[in-house]
Amino acid sequence: MRAEPDATALELPRLSLRGVSKRFGSLAAVEGITLDVRRGEFLSLLGPSGCGKSTVLHMIAGFERPDAGTIEIDGRPVTGPGKDRLVIFQEPGLMPWLTVAENAGFGLPRKPRELYEETVRNLLRLVHLERFGEMLPHQLSGGMKQRAALARAIAVDPDVLLMDEPFAALDPQTREMLHGDLQEIWMGTRKTVVFVTHSVEEAVRLSDRVAILATHPGRVRRVIPIDLPHPRDFNSAEIAGIRREIREEMREEMAAIARGRDGAPGPERR
Ligand SMILES: Nc1ncnc2c1ncn2[C@@H]1O[C@H](COP(=O)(O)OP(=O)(O)O)[C@@H](O)[C@H]1O
Ligand SMILES: [Mg+2]
Repeated sequence: MRAEPDATALELPRLSLRGVSKRFGSLAAVEGITLDVRRGEFLSLLGPSGCGKSTVLHMIAGFERPDAGTIEIDGRPVTGPGKDRLVIFQEPGLMPWLTVAENAGFGLPRKPRELYEETVRNLLRLVHLERFGEMLPHQLSGGMKQRAALARAIAVDPDVLLMDEPFAALDPQTREMLHGDLQEIWMGTRKTVVFVTHSVEEAVRLSDRVAILATHPGRVRRVIPIDLPHPRDFNSAEIAGIRREIREEMREEMAAIARGRDGAPGPERR
């Protein structure tokens, strides 16, 4: 186990991206992404399809190497996948031959049987699946599967949780429930989360800050802080204002894409 960071280390961002770029052949997928994510922060990467959100997440996960720039976790460079980061995808990726309880407990460090069982029970309770532990994944709805995936992620206890449009395949009502569950879990664990989404609603509901990306190449267009307590009151005037501001920014980005990037005002505008 890693030693606790000293007082100076606490001032370091948990996650730091500096001038991160990635090409695929002749395509500049992502260019010059610079972002810091604080310990315990929930940051969303918001942008239209193809703007490079997954590419950024995959580089943080260590699945892809940047062509330029650096990515650091607690000041240590990311050189490949590691136990300090965990990715949750749209597809829950449960092991079909294991029960929900076994899936949830899969990443737990070795511990005595009773303690293991209690931990799994607590994990399942956290995601409201306590009555479904003995079921197999195929017996669950999409939302329940994704909750089981969340339980497994929490069991692994990563420093940084990376989520790539985890709720995009769910129906609106289920998605809303999962938002509530994720909020609860995040407020209880204060994991550092990087959450990829193309939904303004989702970003506004969950995030401390929203990084809006521009497309081709993927860059940070603007970072909008949402200094409002969690869980959020969706009827508040502040939320309405922030939602409007982000929607406007997204509209401008879509217009820039439609015009072709060359005629676009560019991210340095603000
Ligand atoms: N492995 C790859 N090979 C070639 N092109 C890729 C690869 N991964 C992503 N791209 C391209 O890079 C751009 C960004 O993709 P991606 O990060 O998946 O965007 P997003 O997640 O925002 O939809 C897209 O134009 C996509 O087609
Ligand atoms: Mg993607």
